[in-house]
Amino acid sequence: MKIEGLREVRVEDLSELDAYAELKALAKEIHQHDKDYYQNDEPTISDADYDRLRQRNSAIEARFPHLKRKDSPTDKVGAPVQSSFAKGQHSVPMLSLGNAFSEEDVTDFNDRVRRFLGFDSDAVLEIEAEPKIDGLSLSIRYEAGKLKYALTRGDGSVGENVTQNVMTIGNIPHQLPDDAPDIVEVRGEVYMDKNDFATLNQQQEEKGAKVFANPRNAAAGSLRQLDSEITKTRPLKFFAYAWGEVSEQLGETQSDIIKRFSSWGFDTYDIHVANDVKGLLSAYQTIQTNRASLPYDIDGVVYKVNRLDLQARLGMITRSPRWAIAHKFPAEQAQTILEAIDIQVGRTGVLTPVARLKPITVGGVVVSNATLHNDDEIKRKDIRINDHVIIQRAGDVIPQVVSVILEQRSENSTPYEFPKTCPECGSHAIREEGEAATRCTGGLICPAQAVERLKHFVSRNAFDMDGLGAKNIEKFWQNGLIKTPADIFRLKDHQATIATWEGWKEKSIENLKKSIEDKRKIALDRFIYALGIRQVGQATAKLLAKNYLNLDALQTAMKEACNPESSAYEDLINIDGIGQSMAQDIIEFFEESHNQDVLEDLKSQLSIIDFIPPTTSDSPVAGKIVVFTGTLHTMTRSEAKAKAENLGAKVSGSVSKKTDILIAGDSAGSKRKKAEELGVQIMNEEEWQAFIADL
Ligand code: IVH
Repeated sequence: MKIEGLREVRVEDLSELDAYAELKALAKEIHQHDKDYYQNDEPTISDADYDRLRQRNSAIEARFPHLKRKDSPTDKVGAPVQSSFAKGQHSVPMLSLGNAFSEEDVTDFNDRVRRFLGFDSDAVLEIEAEPKIDGLSLSIRYEAGKLKYALTRGDGSVGENVTQNVMTIGNIPHQLPDDAPDIVEVRGEVYMDKNDFATLNQQQEEKGAKVFANPRNAAAGSLRQLDSEITKTRPLKFFAYAWGEVSEQLGETQSDIIKRFSSWGFDTYDIHVANDVKGLLSAYQTIQTNRASLPYDIDGVVYKVNRLDLQARLGMITRSPRWAIAHKFPAEQAQTILEAIDIQVGRTGVLTPVARLKPITVGGVVVSNATLHNDDEIKRKDIRINDHVIIQRAGDVIPQVVSVILEQRSENSTPYEFPKTCPECGSHAIREEGEAATRCTGGLICPAQAVERLKHFVSRNAFDMDGLGAKNIEKFWQNGLIKTPADIFRLKDHQATIATWEGWKEKSIENLKKSIEDKRKIALDRFIYALGIRQVGQATAKLLAKNYLNLDALQTAMKEACNPESSAYEDLINIDGIGQSMAQDIIEFFEESHNQDVLEDLKSQLSIIDFIPPTTSDSPVAGKIVVFTGTLHTMTRSEAKAKAENLGAKVSGSVSKKTDILIAGDSAGSKRKKAEELGVQIMNEEEWQAFIADL
């Protein structure tokens, strides 16, 4: 049985199909949370959980950049304004911040910034650290010293005009001193102190009115009151930490400007300036230690490059500045009892242990399952059934078991024994050397694997049979009508039987038949993907289709490639994007006699459309084998590859005598040398760009 909604797969183990599906689900989920948070002031999950959703989304996008959606949450800040407030356009967009969750992330941030700026190891880079308060951001525009209007962040470009309400906030000046520029937008956070929040909630309860979940919601709900008389009664406050449009530069550094804001009468944070990661982490420690004694809630520390000229050079990435990052405080943890360990069997036979927990609320969400990843993980943490465990909703959303509370372990507890047989089919479960996963050896006799494979076969990016979903596959499997993929195409022979089943009317049978018949013709890459070969996602399936053009050629080549000395093997691993371990899985798949039967059977039912290379006859690179090496400056490696492939070139990962062009970026090494030896044409990045410029 699969756990619905549990993201138990590590990003690095995700298949492309799952990644696609998950990105889609995440976009929807995050969008809904944005609405709950920004429009309704009523979030249904904790901020930490929300961050994890976004983090997982970004991690999947980083691994599969081509799957990034048009409506990706990564490119969005907040939610569109939808209220009775007038809308206002921000003259300079209101940005959000990227997140760091570990010391390593902070080091990466520092390295990234230094690298971007080309700082050598001696150059000093000042970064300041300040608390990250949990409220809602606001932009207040002053013209000729007078408060003109104030907008909430909204979606980053259009916010709500909340001027009347902002006028009631005690610590926001209505008038700036003479040294303020003619136009200045002061930005910062509206928030409520913890004590004020408690008092407000008490009053609300006495009145029978809405009680707020946390100070942030109380602040948001109070600021977004249509009646400013109500806002006036709410104890809102404001911290200034950023700015929007300014008619003249406010200072040289972030810390100068904060001082200036303070001199104008704004409340500002205490800031710490550091010269290295150690300094930042020590500021983080100090702020974290003081957290509990602060009158307001903070959820992390924000690091900002101090010099404004450097900030300008660094610029921004989609929704957040490259020069700043929020270092979040750790995720919430909770203690519960691990009641059982279940084993799930996936499409490729991997046995994944799942902890069944006594349900517990962590960071506002009830958790009853946690992934245990594999045997090693269980051994390393010595996790046993009936143990008291600390769990946490960690970085990639999947609840994790952090540790076992040994003092509470019962005396007769015994170590967990990972099953030696598959719980679904009883076949041996083995763990190959160097692998973390334990796999069922049952192959297609294992019902779990067979069913999962069939589900994959009909899934959206494979045969895309919308009339034959996962539920139906299970049903047809149980009734013995579908055992192998080709059985799907023989289903029509069982029409009479199906018609006797409950819920199957003439119309639904017709629909089913149509959705199957429509797919008797299938593109080669989809077909390869549908086979569910280990490690072969959509992208690899495309690569194979592109390089072998038809199924017979692929089968013949894979037969030859069994010999690692053969040129067929060399050709396979020379395809850029196919490594040795992937090649091994592909070859093994085609070698297996049962799979050969399945292929022959499918061929008798289908017409598989050969891959037709793009008609790029006027492209000088069409059909050419190109290799990229060294550091590229005008484009990333994946961009370069995508562009070359669009022009009809085949991109290979290594140089051989078949290579037509080597594009050598900076510090190109052995590949360049080999190309020179073989007399392969070599271009630098600029020459290549010029070569393809008009295509
Ligand atoms: S700087 C370009 N500094 O956190 C400037 N933001 O998660 C971007 N926030 O949208 C914001 N304390 O609402 C900044 N010291 C601080 C902050 C802070 C809280 C909020 C702000 C921002 C969100 C990003």
